Amino acid sequence: MTFHQSLLDWYDRSHRHLPWRANPGKTPNPYYVLLSEIMLQQTTVATVIDYFRYFIEKWPTIENFAAATQDEIYHAWQGLGYYSRARNLHKCTQIIVNEHQGRVPQELPQLLALPGIGPYTAAAIASIAYDQSVVPVDGNIVRVFSRVLCLEKELPQLLDEVRLKVKDYVPDNRRGDFAQALMDLGATICRPNKPLCHDCPIESYCLVANTEKATTLPRKKAKIPRPVRYGITYWYMDEQNHVWLRRRPEKGLLANLMEFPGTAWQDHPYEVAQTISKQLPFANWVVLPHEVIHTFTHFQLRLTIVKAIGLDQPGDLLVDPKNLDDYALPTLMRKVAAHVEKYRNIT
Ligand code: ADE
Repeated sequence: MTFHQSLLDWYDRSHRHLPWRANPGKTPNPYYVLLSEIMLQQTTVATVIDYFRYFIEKWPTIENFAAATQDEIYHAWQGLGYYSRARNLHKCTQIIVNEHQGRVPQELPQLLALPGIGPYTAAAIASIAYDQSVVPVDGNIVRVFSRVLCLEKELPQLLDEVRLKVKDYVPDNRRGDFAQALMDLGATICRPNKPLCHDCPIESYCLVANTEKATTLPRKKAKIPRPVRYGITYWYMDEQNHVWLRRRPEKGLLANLMEFPGTAWQDHPYEVAQTISKQLPFANWVVLPHEVIHTFTHFQLRLTIVKAIGLDQPGDLLVDPKNLDDYALPTLMRKVAAHVEKYRNIT
């Protein structure tokens, strides 16, 4: 048996049942593939499953999705993070409906021209939805091939090497299943820490199976510590205990989402009392214990939460905290609301 035969046989027996997938050998719905691949860009399979099901129930076709409002999509996306994905996906579906007769493009150049679709996602869609001869090389596939071929380079050079070498393994058909089989193998057998070499369908092709190297490859790059940024966030209430929200700017991190008002984020801690008395001169305020800590890709954010009451209008709209679920709040701001709830006795 060849490498791909062994792998595909294993996939037929052991593949993961995921709601965006067709059964082995069958053609999946390209809209499902597009939607799932965008969700999976920065989120785990386990988290994506329920969101994906909810999305296709709410918007069964790409036309339905393209016709939704941005707020509806943001609202459904809540908790998945990296909201620029939702904005780009929406634009992407509108372009597909208006310029491609509602059909997700099949070729890499057309896919790459769509917003939010980079080389990995384009290759995933082309191979999974259309069986094209490309392999979407993700972290799982890098891990599998760095071990099979005992590749000692570090990322990002390793990624280039795997992209090149994997081409020799692509079968003449079932290429979408081949890509997904590699993803499944990486997720369930060729795992980062304790690979199950004895259960591996391509054990006999692997240069490092059952050796120490099967856990040490791919070689890890030394991590650079994330910088820390600081801010103060105001849970600013009127006399009915309704709280102010404002919309974030159209560009940048968490663009267009709602937030509680606060200071800019800076690279050193604030002089809290001084800053508050300057920014909220007429409010009564109290600083809550502990910070809300949230990790973004490029930095860690530490927010001091201040509960205040007064007559200013530091935001765009006043809402009853009971109804916060109705607004497109990013996870960071949900953490702020949970923090305030936890310390609700402090006034
Ligand atoms: N990660 C990215 N794309 C995936 C897919 N189609 N199946 C499983 N994991 C994935």
